[in-house]
Amino acid sequence: MSTITSILLKDALDRDDIITLLGADNPTDIELIRLTAEKIMRDKCGPDVFYRGLIEFSNHCICDCYYCGIRKSNAAVNRYILPKDDIAASAKWCADQGYGSVVLQSGERRDEAFIDFLADVIAEIKSSTTSEKMPDGVGITLSVGEQSPETYKRLYDAGAHRYLLRIESSNPHLFASIHPPAQDQQTRIDCLKSLRDTGFQVGTGVMTGIPGQTVADLADDVLFFRDMDVDMIGMGPYIVHKATPMNIYYDYYNYAKDEIFQTALLMIAVCRIVLGDVNIASTTALQAMRDNGREEGLRYGANVIMPQTTPVNVRRDYLLYEGKPCLDEDVRHCRTCLEKRIHSIGRKIAVDVWGDSKRALRRQC
Ligand code: 5AD
Repeated sequence: MSTITSILLKDALDRDDIITLLGADNPTDIELIRLTAEKIMRDKCGPDVFYRGLIEFSNHCICDCYYCGIRKSNAAVNRYILPKDDIAASAKWCADQGYGSVVLQSGERRDEAFIDFLADVIAEIKSSTTSEKMPDGVGITLSVGEQSPETYKRLYDAGAHRYLLRIESSNPHLFASIHPPAQDQQTRIDCLKSLRDTGFQVGTGVMTGIPGQTVADLADDVLFFRDMDVDMIGMGPYIVHKATPMNIYYDYYNYAKDEIFQTALLMIAVCRIVLGDVNIASTTALQAMRDNGREEGLRYGANVIMPQTTPVNVRRDYLLYEGKPCLDEDVRHCRTCLEKRIHSIGRKIAVDVWGDSKRALRRQC
């Protein structure tokens, strides 16, 4: 029996097992891992793909992450915040299409005006999307960064119930190498704990292919997700953006691209194998690397997709990385295009449901 097969037959994997799986580099081993992850996904979560309409409602940001295209020091970015009515209209459009949930994502701001604005938007979306099919309106996931426990409580009370905050890397040295000193990894961990205490379903994730990252780092990321007992995971490949300090890694990135993509897929599979019934997103960054990247993510065990529903007029101003797909496509086009892609791999889309992870539902029992 091959090493990979014997690992895949175990009930619980240790760090060395995870390192071995993530380091798989021959097609037979990779396919074995993929098939195992896909089976676990079908057994524990079912075949449905859950949609979250992604609304990138503002690119103002007080952070200066070295990898991110909308970092505060990038003066070339045209900064925007969508009017409340436009955000609510996008969410209503999602609800009318049967997308049971939306993600409100933005650059990071912690000032009172912003939090007031966001709490109002959440309440407005909730009241304007209630229907017979969805008596509690669409599910709202937030992705607006590090906030105080009081702010998290306020946003939760306003009606949001899931929150994504990536740890980017669980290795403190690697985290420090891609963030300015003022941005502290421990703060992020504290935020994740505070989100859980507030009552949110909590999601986190990392980027794969950060320069200097090893397979052991990624294995530790998986163990971090497990130990934090998260409900959702959103990960993707790191992609260079020219207007960032990390643009010095262009050559590295071009050289390592294929491996970064494959590792990103293996991370999805290994998270599915180790964590079981969590929700795992197949993120847009995968499609930025390969046209069929998001379908591949689903084939490796992901069960969530975030269709682009940001109004087209601001989409080009929300470029975290280069090569972001669907910049000009009308939201209706994105909808039919994605639908075809999902059906092409034999999966179906769940409609009019929030699509909470089985793990989160189990926690509530
Ligand atoms: N490449 C890939 N992902 C990125 N993100 C930000 N910049 C990049 C990049 N250059 C991801 C981060 C962040 C999420 C919103 O987007 O992981 O948490």
